Amino acid sequence: MLENIKTIAVIGAGAMGPGIAQVASMARFKVILIDNNEEAFKRADETIRKNLHRLTLKDLRDLKRKEAGGISTIQRDDILARITTTIDLKEAANADFVVEAITENPEVKFKMFRDLEEIVPKGVIIASNTSTINIQRLGEQSNRREKVIGMHFMNPVPMMKLVEVVKADTTADETVKIVVALAEKLGKTPVVVRNFPGFVVNRVLIPMINEAIICLQDGISTREGIDACMKLGANHPMGPLALADLIGLDVCLAIMEVLHADLGDDKYLPCPLLETMVVNGKLGKKTKKGFYVY
Ligand code: NAI
Repeated sequence: MLENIKTIAVIGAGAMGPGIAQVASMARFKVILIDNNEEAFKRADETIRKNLHRLTLKDLRDLKRKEAGGISTIQRDDILARITTTIDLKEAANADFVVEAITENPEVKFKMFRDLEEIVPKGVIIASNTSTINIQRLGEQSNRREKVIGMHFMNPVPMMKLVEVVKADTTADETVKIVVALAEKLGKTPVVVRNFPGFVVNRVLIPMINEAIICLQDGISTREGIDACMKLGANHPMGPLALADLIGLDVCLAIMEVLHADLGDDKYLPCPLLETMVVNGKLGKKTKKGFYVY
């Protein structure tokens, strides 16, 4: 039951973990943020402080921040104080719910699920934020596959409303119910989806981005032209090539490869231009060069 959840362990303090920790703490859960790399915590702390700064009211007339769900300085300090960090995975023993958000590598995640099985109390749900890894296979690493589920947050977590709640055939309905209620408590809109490669968002979004790259490769229009077409013609807030730069071209390529391998359909073949750009280290915003220069 949701009422039994007081403390949440978030494992992985990279791009996603700190955002999950922040929204959980803002919903008044105690949070144990765990990473095996001490350096991750400094960046996590900076990110969370920067996010909270944007929400913290300067005074009672600070209408802009009030509209964004403004918080007082006392609330900000409480949110920060509810989050503790540790490199010791055994601390997950003190959690009533676990969200795993470590590196997207099946072997690394499988080992994590085996380790968590030993550490985390029996009744506790273990959710994974994975974008592409089969939830049932994660569940099979443990002796509680009915309590293993996908909880796929979007990036950046504090801003994005959606959580894909991924139900494997082995996940219990009760587990789905609790995770849906938890996502709502975190201020998100959960959508239950089946455990299928790419779930819904990446299954639809990444092939669209791949197609936009094929348009560029075929010389149908310039990068600006293709982005303008989708912004003005399909009402997308951002063009697909700019979005690919934001997501990371390596991430887009990895997802296309998973869709191609797991669905076995050549319509998911990654575009050669995408592959070339990744080989050349043009990964988008994070390398300052992608389809655009930053
Ligand atoms: P990241 O690479 O930025 O961070 C992963 C963190 O996990 C690192 O800080 C690393 O030190 C830590 N880590 C790795 N192995 C560990 C272990 N054995 N024990 C403890 N900590 C460990 O990864 P990112 O981007 O945050 O992704 C995390 C998960 O979220 C992945 O499953 C990814 O598919 C998913 N995801 C990522 C999105 C994104 O836009 N980056 C969007 C939605 C989901």
